[in-house]
Amino acid sequence: MSVPRPAAVIVLAAGEGTRMKSQTPKVLHELCGRALLDHMLAAARDLGPERLIVVIGHALERMRDHLAATSPDARAVVQNEQRGTGHAVRTVLEEVGTISGTVLVTYGDVPLLRPQTLATLLERHDADGNAVTVLTAEVPDPTGYGRIIRDESGAVLEIVEEKDADAGQRAIKEMNSGIYAFDGELLADAVKRVSADNAQGEEYLTDVLAILRGDGHRVGACVAGDFVEVEGVNDRVQLAAARQVLNRRLLEAHMRAGVTIIDPAGTWIDVSVRIAPDAVIHPGTQLHGDTVIEAGAEVGPATTLTGTRVGAGATVRNAVCDHADIGPEANVGPYAYLRPGTVIGRRSKAGTFVEMKNTKVGERSKVPHLSYAGDATIGDDVNIGASTVFVNYDGVDKHHTTVRDGAFVGCDTMLIAPVTVGDGAYTAAGSVIADDVPPGSIGVARARQRNIEKWVLRRRAGTKSAAAAQRALAEQDQEKEA
Ligand code: UD1
Ligand code: CA
Repeated sequence: MSVPRPAAVIVLAAGEGTRMKSQTPKVLHELCGRALLDHMLAAARDLGPERLIVVIGHALERMRDHLAATSPDARAVVQNEQRGTGHAVRTVLEEVGTISGTVLVTYGDVPLLRPQTLATLLERHDADGNAVTVLTAEVPDPTGYGRIIRDESGAVLEIVEEKDADAGQRAIKEMNSGIYAFDGELLADAVKRVSADNAQGEEYLTDVLAILRGDGHRVGACVAGDFVEVEGVNDRVQLAAARQVLNRRLLEAHMRAGVTIIDPAGTWIDVSVRIAPDAVIHPGTQLHGDTVIEAGAEVGPATTLTGTRVGAGATVRNAVCDHADIGPEANVGPYAYLRPGTVIGRRSKAGTFVEMKNTKVGERSKVPHLSYAGDATIGDDVNIGASTVFVNYDGVDKHHTTVRDGAFVGCDTMLIAPVTVGDGAYTAAGSVIADDVPPGSIGVARARQRNIEKWVLRRRAGTKSAAAAQRALAEQDQEKEA
């Protein structure tokens, strides 16, 4: 069955969300790489609405900036005073005018709601020819929610808020999710007739159901299969619970698509991450932003990737990579930190205690141990010895270093940028290379060693070192005599 396209989706998000106890408005708190509000907007977009409207009020400037940056397709309507959900919808319709067709109303704090559930609500609304269809759920503990009041035949009569309910009504476990499909024209008329004569002195959108029913229109309900989907996030405990549910959902989709996830409880992933089949994700891994993991790559344990690509068959262990591009069959870590602009070519290695920034490494090159490479270009088949530092910063400016194909940089080399190590060139271990090394040359830039004989015996007399030296020298003398 094709889902009828709604004329508009109105997302209510003007409230403060005081229980978050936060400087950040509730709906802008992050969950799996997206603000709570943006999860709702993504689900709404899936329905292809003609208009997407967000009601904002609290933290107006931040909300406006966020919408402008992330949802230019959404229209913000300002509700200056939060006088209830009915008032919020009335404010929208007064500003944009009556909307004909189906109007879906929902909240900005229900990030687990699946597009499929909204589609089912719309189908039911359409098929039954209702004036309003409310999405409900049977919950173990309905405390705080509006209750769905039905007659003996099961027809929906009205919604009663917890604060206005009597004991019998409070015992009802079917709650109002706060998500509805309305006939837009009937909504525009009914929402004007909602009073604020109730326990909270607010204009309740829920009252629209009884009003439309009183006018002789059809009022229906659609019961959500999974109540977890419609539970909103009100505090940080619920935020953590929602994160667990959504994370699990995302990981299960990846596992069903052929990705091995060793420890789903200890793996955290954003909605925008893509992983190809036969990739293996080890425990303690976090995958953020537009991270892409290609076929057969192994990531983790204890690895955090942000906006990073991991090529097919590559291995990334105990690493933190931020906007890096790791080529196929490359090897990163354990204990590597790849910062933005790092590109590791096919079969290359950024090994243990290696940090790189804005560095492009060619193919089959190795930076195996204890090194820093910043602002550099490293060619193919290069070996960078342990403890090499690309000295890119002179205290004022950053400079570039080039190490060309087949070069061999000795251990503990300081490459003082700007500098170039030519094709097939070497540097001697412990060198401070401030001048270019021509192709095929070796750059030696260190003092010659000088040994001062018996210095320890004279200057460290009486120490264990002096005793050890004395024994060795005596043995040498005996050998000479023999
Ligand atoms: C509302 C419903 C209740 C339902 C519950 C589900 C009403 C009267 N009650 O109660 O039946 O069970 O949601 O969560 O509708 N908002 C505005 N402007 C306002 C008031 C609210 O934009 O003037 C927004 C809030 O930011 C929030 C949403 O609407 O996202 C719900 O408002 P809230 O005050 O939390 O309603 P509840 O009391 O939870
Ligand atoms: Ca609420």
